Amino acid sequence: MKRLRVLVLVREGLVPPESMDGYSDEEIDRWKVEFDVVATLHNMGHEVHPLGVQHDLSPIRRAILDWSPDITFMLLEEFHGLAVYDSAIVSYLELMRQPYTGCNPRGMLLSRDKALSKKILRFHRVATPRFAVFPRGKALKRMPSLRFPLIVKSVAEDASLGIAQASVVRDREALAARITFVQQRLGADALVEEYIEGREFYVGVIGNQRLETFPIWELVFSGLPDDVARIATAKVKWDRKYQKKYGITTTAAEGLPPALAAKISRLCKRVYRELHLSGYARIDLRMNEAGQVFVLEANANPNLAYGEDFAESAETGGISYEALLQRILKLGLKYQSPWKTVAVE
Ligand SMILES: Nc1ncnc2c1ncn2[C@@H]1O[C@H](COP(=O)(O)OP(=O)(O)O)[C@@H](O)[C@H]1O
Ligand SMILES: [Mg+2]
Repeated sequence: MKRLRVLVLVREGLVPPESMDGYSDEEIDRWKVEFDVVATLHNMGHEVHPLGVQHDLSPIRRAILDWSPDITFMLLEEFHGLAVYDSAIVSYLELMRQPYTGCNPRGMLLSRDKALSKKILRFHRVATPRFAVFPRGKALKRMPSLRFPLIVKSVAEDASLGIAQASVVRDREALAARITFVQQRLGADALVEEYIEGREFYVGVIGNQRLETFPIWELVFSGLPDDVARIATAKVKWDRKYQKKYGITTTAAEGLPPALAAKISRLCKRVYRELHLSGYARIDLRMNEAGQVFVLEANANPNLAYGEDFAESAETGGISYEALLQRILKLGLKYQSPWKTVAVE
């Protein structure tokens, strides 16, 4: 591909430094994705301009008008500090007639709302844990017809925010308390789901129309005590010491019969299509003892850091980090945004 001018949108304060030298692991973790993408695009020969934004759209508008980027690399996950506005930023890019990487606004909106996406999946008869929603301000009065144990999470958060051992509840009292926690402490509607005991898989999907999946990835806990629920709590996901202590890692799923792996891959492509995703995404799933597979959620624009699940599973599937970023750019340039069908006066 020719040398492209790439505007990289990141959150204010996360414009990465030129080099990682002299920074602690904690500091690097804050802008690792941004650093990996900017540095790699630069090494690939592209002209890269990282831009930090938070509360104001005008820097985006100015950068697009003044610098005429070929494409905007979308690493922004929030606006005004709110994750729900990520799709609005992509809508803004569309209104600016600016190609961008990753998912279109509709797919972002649908997949961001876990309850809404589960409704769509159930319509298409995709297995997803049975659930009930308790909007903010609505306490538990009548028990939903769901079977304990249940797990309580926010309908809109991601990255395991608010997910802890206390999220898994086994009686009415604990359920009511956790619903209140999610509503009041996370300020979100609470999603209550039947808890699926079993293995947890992540599947990377890439493409607009023609889709490809990466090897099935699995979250493994080798040294977690038996009385601790094997779920991706915030600690499991982000606390390196905790991961070391309990032998927590993610790796290619072992021992899956090829027919089952193929079925999971097809299932993930269906989910991707039904939720109108484009660019790239990661589907989270659980499989119970009986081998039944349930879709937990779809993540549009998943974490792209080098060495994280998405990039690592791509690499295991034979796609290097550079090739992955190049594919993502190409898909962004080729995506058929509505504005492309309208002649410019
Ligand atoms: N129905 C469920 N059964 C078992 N574990 C679940 C269920 N829902 C969520 N989890 C656990 O909680 C984690 C976070 O939930 P998820 O819906 O993927 O939210 P997030 O957007 O924070 O990743 C999952 O990775 C999984 O370990
Ligand atoms: Mg998840």
